Amino acid sequence: MLSIYILLCLCHFFVSLTLCRCEVTPHQPIKLWCYQSQFRCDHTCTGKFPDSWGKLHHQCSGGAQSPVNIVTRSVQRDEHLIPFKLTGYEKKLHGHLINNGHTIQMDLPSSLKIERGNLTVPYKALQFHLHWGKNGGPGSEHTIDGEQFPMEMHVVHIKEEYDCLSQAAKDGTGVAVLGFFFQEHPSANKKFDPLIDALKNITYPSKTTLRGVSLDMFLPSRDNLTKYFRYDGSLTTPNCSEGVVWSLFESTIPLSKEQLASFSQLRFSDGNHMVNTYRPVQPLNGRQVYYSRGHAVLISTYSYAFCILST
Ligand SMILES: *[C@@H]1O[C@H](CO)[C@@H](O)[C@H](O)[C@H]1NC(C)=O
Ligand SMILES: *[C@@H]1O[C@H](CO)[C@@H](O)[C@H](O)[C@H]1NC(C)=O
Ligand SMILES: *[C@@H]1O[C@H](CO)[C@@H](O)[C@H](O)[C@H]1NC(C)=O
Ligand SMILES: *[C@@H]1O[C@H](CO)[C@@H](O)[C@H](O)[C@H]1NC(C)=O
Ligand SMILES: [Zn+2]
Repeated sequence: MLSIYILLCLCHFFVSLTLCRCEVTPHQPIKLWCYQSQFRCDHTCTGKFPDSWGKLHHQCSGGAQSPVNIVTRSVQRDEHLIPFKLTGYEKKLHGHLINNGHTIQMDLPSSLKIERGNLTVPYKALQFHLHWGKNGGPGSEHTIDGEQFPMEMHVVHIKEEYDCLSQAAKDGTGVAVLGFFFQEHPSANKKFDPLIDALKNITYPSKTTLRGVSLDMFLPSRDNLTKYFRYDGSLTTPNCSEGVVWSLFESTIPLSKEQLASFSQLRFSDGNHMVNTYRPVQPLNGRQVYYSRGHAVLISTYSYAFCILST
């Protein structure tokens, strides 16, 4: 029995050596870092809150970290920031929705891709996850002119040549994240019902199955994805690798207060409510934030003017 165990271990070790650069999922290891909301006097999180991440993961003290506050009067318009081409975002997904101890995450098939938007090559999707506040209060990671939104969704992509996030993170532009802000709306957004219903099954770290949803169902309509901010930053959880191309969309996703609050029922592995799952904003340190021109809107303004002129 013991020898089989040793054999398995060795096997795992060698497999790890060859493959495992990809085995590490982005939000592991579960025990090594915490959000501020996990504070308790007797807690294993002491020294592992966001302000101290840099002690264990030196990259978290780097000079090009995320999230940041975007000051809209300081952004620079750039005509290279054309609309993205999103492939497979309309596909109905069938996969695991995971409470990984830090957030909820859904792994995405690599057939989902993003192109254009001044990306030099296509990037394939890995997963999406969310950051939120407490009972629908402020909870986004990025802020715009100091405003923190109740929730933020990150759709994580890597260059097609890589197999996983940790490989891509070594490349200066290996990772591209699309970020979407949520806004409170008086009525419920029915398209989120399957996801929100599934939360009940993963209150504690575990996984459930989510089917019949597509990214298009969650995101603002494609016409509304032409306006976005672009800057170079990092992963917002340890190990905070830099080399992430960030695109943050201006158009928001509406959810009701109750829908937003339902995420606060989730629990961290320590039993605390999974709330305020965001990293505080980091200094820009001279980085420029760019802004797309919002082509589609410009075009429709022109055609509107044309209509007026021609009638
Ligand atoms: C667009 O891409 C080029 C080439 O990678 C890069 O040098 C430039 O900084 C990018 N512009 C923006 C606004 O991201
Ligand atoms: C952490 O950062 C290093 C260096 O960028 C990288 O080699 C490693 O794979 C990263 N781990 C993850 C999980 O991204
Ligand atoms: C939650 O779990 C129950 C029982 O395991 C199952 O019947 C139900 O379909 C699950 N709901 C969702 C939304 O996954
Ligand atoms: C999205 O686009 C539609 C029309 O295409 C427009 O009516 C709506 O106001 C837009 N929403 C946002 C949040 O920009
Ligand atoms: Zn994130």
